[in-house]
Amino acid sequence: MQEIRDRVILQNNTITPGMTYSSLSAYKQQILNDFNNRPNYENEFRIRAATRLVELAKLQSGQHVLDIATGTGLAAIAAAMVVGSTGRVLGTDFALGMLQQAQQRIEVLGLTNTKFEEADANEQELQSSQFDAILCSSAIAYLIDIPTSLRRWHNALKPGGVVAFSCLAENSPTASVLFRTVVKRYGITIPNPNQLLGTPKRCCQLLEMIGFKEIEITTEQLGFYLQNAEDAWAGNAKSAFGLQDVKWSNEQLEQCKQEYFKEINQASTEEGYWNDVTMFFVTARKPSEKVT
Ligand SMILES: C[S@@+](CC[C@H](N)C(=O)[O-])C[C@H]1O[C@@H](n2cnc3c(N)ncnc32)[C@H](O)[C@@H]1O
Repeated sequence: MQEIRDRVILQNNTITPGMTYSSLSAYKQQILNDFNNRPNYENEFRIRAATRLVELAKLQSGQHVLDIATGTGLAAIAAAMVVGSTGRVLGTDFALGMLQQAQQRIEVLGLTNTKFEEADANEQELQSSQFDAILCSSAIAYLIDIPTSLRRWHNALKPGGVVAFSCLAENSPTASVLFRTVVKRYGITIPNPNQLLGTPKRCCQLLEMIGFKEIEITTEQLGFYLQNAEDAWAGNAKSAFGLQDVKWSNEQLEQCKQEYFKEINQASTEEGYWNDVTMFFVTARKPSEKVT
């Protein structure tokens, strides 16, 4: 029962009535289990996604930027380079393992305009009209109530300020869609975390409803060939949208894993398995105050 309730949280990326504190904290713990143990988090894909988001946010020198769920600080540090010594960047995340890596990087780079703080984005209190830009790179799908978070970010932006986040198409990454399909045959239904913002239209509708204007969505293919099905299985299984809380025997687990490998192999060519990653880079503006 607990397992079902934990998974219900993510059904629509909004808090479901009846959610208990323990199931919310179990979900949080699963994210922490995943991200606090990632010494090799950064790779070409992650760097490309974060730097592209910052590019599309069109930041300017002197601006005050918040990077929500900053992880190892990829977007925050790229933003810090743009806003320069007259600007400021705050990166927040609740995974200390990730923040430690971010902190080490700014020390090595000697960046004095950037700081990192521990904060749970689901509970983060933000003052009104504080930031010129709020970024959230490859992380919004983890939030338990995306509309509420976006409303808070809207309030925390100065008039004319920009929100910029990246999210995935509902049928991406295909290696994860396949993972959910296979585990479903074994009785485990994992809701799609990319459902709520899974099309440009849905992104637009939600942002408009909240009051954002000048919404721009850039769709890019960040896919790559997977050479190693074992890594794809492990990445999916240990994620918060995976099998962390599933109590299977080793035999059951192995059987499901082998079925996944079989599906991956069947869909592979000589180059490997094409893992389609269709990413939406979304930017939108809080309207400027009317001059009367
Ligand atoms: C895929 S990583 C993205 C990190 C970084 N933004 C990037 O572009 O590389 C997801 C990050 O979201 C963080 N995260 C997930 N839910 C969060 C929450 N409720 N509050 C703060 N951080 C959260 C995780 O700890 C992790 O560092």
